[in-house]
Amino acid sequence: MLSYSVYKILHLIGIIGVFTGLGALIMHACHGGKKGVKGTKMVKWTIYGSLGIVLVAGFGLMARLNMMGTGWPLWIYLKVVIWMGLGGAVALIGKKSQWAAGLFYAVIAIGGLAAWVANYKPL
Ligand code: HEM
Repeated sequence: MLSYSVYKILHLIGIIGVFTGLGALIMHACHGGKKGVKGTKMVKWTIYGSLGIVLVAGFGLMARLNMMGTGWPLWIYLKVVIWMGLGGAVALIGKKSQWAAGLFYAVIAIGGLAAWVANYKPL
């Protein structure tokens, strides 16, 4: 049985993996985002793997906070939407490399929003 703290650390490791990967992908897009460049597949799989860790550890945290039984509060749905948005950013960065610089700051803002949602739990 993993403790709340272990799930929180795993959740944060996943988050770090997602943002490190998105940063690398955005920098690659700033240089034109050429397909098949060495390392891009590794970065993409790291992002997807990290998103998986964020999700599983997020549900682990919910279990330790006894939130799995009842209907989810809105803030959890907000987190899931943010999580899906970060996954979608991978495809968007690949398709719209001309937006790379803007996406760079948008991703940081989304991370900040998730941290705010996690700590203030609106609604
Ligand atoms: C499926 C999606 C997710 C679920 C179910 C989820 C769930 C949770 C839960 C239950 C907590 C613990 C809240 C508490 O201890 O009171 C938490 C904390 C947190 N989550 Fe998530 N989360 C998800 C996605 C994300 C994403 C995508 C991010 C960042 C982009 C994120 C950032 C955070 C942060 C920063 C904390 C607080 C950590 C701290 O206080 O040390 N979460 N999350």
